[in-house]
Amino acid sequence: MPRPETILFPRGERVEERRRNAEDHKIRDEFFDHPTLLAVSHLVSRGLFESLDYPISTGKEGGVFRASGAAGFRAVKVYRISNAVFRTLPPYVLEEFRRQAGTRGFAHLVADWTRREHTILTRLKDAEVRVPVPLGYMRNVLVMELVGSDAGEPAPRLKDALIEDPEALRTEFALQVQRMLVGAKLVHGDLSPYNVLQAPDGAPAFIDVAQAIPTTHPQARALLVRDLKTFAKFFGKLGADGSFERLWADSGGATALPEKA
Ligand SMILES: Nc1ncnc2c1ncn2[C@@H]1O[C@H](COP(=O)(O)OP(=O)(O)O)[C@@H](O)[C@H]1O
Ligand SMILES: [Mg+2]
Repeated sequence: MPRPETILFPRGERVEERRRNAEDHKIRDEFFDHPTLLAVSHLVSRGLFESLDYPISTGKEGGVFRASGAAGFRAVKVYRISNAVFRTLPPYVLEEFRRQAGTRGFAHLVADWTRREHTILTRLKDAEVRVPVPLGYMRNVLVMELVGSDAGEPAPRLKDALIEDPEALRTEFALQVQRMLVGAKLVHGDLSPYNVLQAPDGAPAFIDVAQAIPTTHPQARALLVRDLKTFAKFFGKLGADGSFERLWADSGGATALPEKA
């Protein structure tokens, strides 16, 4: 008579498999509607990658997938076009969004947003900020360099990373923010240990830049203060210098955003 586990285990496996398939279907249905599949196949035909391997992250706004091809590994960010995401927005945002979408449609807005992320990545790269190299986009799909190991393992977010030298990280972070402010003249606006990755050499790599705004924007100063306060606290917790004022100074805040007279 077979032992119980030899009966149960395969059945357990099948259930697990079904669950995984259901999960795959969910991801496929949520992110890959027909037009998105066309955008992906267009990018494939341009030679930007050959296959989507697995989701690195699936969030409210979109999903990021590891992709690979002859030229190496890529990160492919797919913004959701479905109405589902808009239902979760606060009413005043939704209202504004509906108003704009009334004339051009959601798909156009999301495409604009995707292109915007590509443009900002280019501008940051030109200023030698550590960001993934943007490689192309189509509609709601953005292709960029994978921040990760040579073997294609995606880099961890700072939030999850093991940080061996917090003071060195703080110094490098401040240098990168300075390039962002003084070189690219941009404020990230959503900086947190979730949107900064730990590259394999330990350096911080900035992602999720679509909402970045020019240093001349009326909100720039307030957003930079918020970004740097978040990180001063983060560095303090790690045992590095946790002073916001010093981080502001070291990041070139005073140069890029001088106090109004
Ligand atoms: N170029 C990249 N290389 C490696 N991982 C990435 C890359 N871009 C994004 N990721 C991963 O995907 C997650 C979500 O990406 P992000 O751009 O922050 O999108 P979201 O709008 O969902 O926050 C990140 O936290 C990171 O783990
Ligand atoms: Mg993010």
